[in-house]
Amino acid sequence: MIIRFLLILSFLIFVNCSKENQEDRKGQALELMSKMQKELLTNLTESIKNQGLVASISHCSRISPKLENEISGTNWKIKRISEKNRNPNHSPDEIQLSVLKHWEEKIQNKFAPDTFIYNNEERFFVMKPILIAPNCLGCHGIEKEILPEVKKEILKIYPNDKAFGYKVGDLRGAFIAEYFQTK
Ligand code: HEC
Repeated sequence: MIIRFLLILSFLIFVNCSKENQEDRKGQALELMSKMQKELLTNLTESIKNQGLVASISHCSRISPKLENEISGTNWKIKRISEKNRNPNHSPDEIQLSVLKHWEEKIQNKFAPDTFIYNNEERFFVMKPILIAPNCLGCHGIEKEILPEVKKEILKIYPNDKAFGYKVGDLRGAFIAEYFQTK
């Protein structure tokens, strides 16, 4: 009887600990992703204001990988992914792709896509949706509305670009914060 009680107790402690751990990690992930989002947006807005849309494209292509590295640190990898990506390093894996598809369906049915947590013994990551706002259209909007010089500059840096054709409210992709245990 006592043994059974102890077993149940240790199981409950284990469940509680891993729950706390998950909450902790989720909090960290959300914080890192908001930091990335804020810095990207500030950078983009300032750059468009100071040097215009065309020059901001190469600025974005330099600053985005740099920020990813700076914000990631040792245990985390922060990045953005999209099914229709501009930078091919931003392809989703199979699990992430299925979440994007699920979010697409939700948006079509007028529901807001929510933060997704993947957590098992092998992997922990958090995904947060990125939607298109009016200030994204200059570089991600429908092709016939993109300025020819913008399109030319984008295709020069990203010859396999898939990231035009969006409207306000469309799902553009996701922020990912993945945890890696340091050995
Ligand atoms: C000045 C042009 C420009 C504007 C405006 C712009 N983007 Fe981008 N976007 C880019 C470039 C260039 C990249 C590729 C960056 C890289 O190589 O990491 C990119 C990449 C992305 C990615 C990563 C996935 C991928 O396709 O590689 C997401 C997500 C994204 N943009 C969302 C947005 C959102 C949301 C907005 C509006 C708030 C926005 N962008 C506004 C130029 C722009």
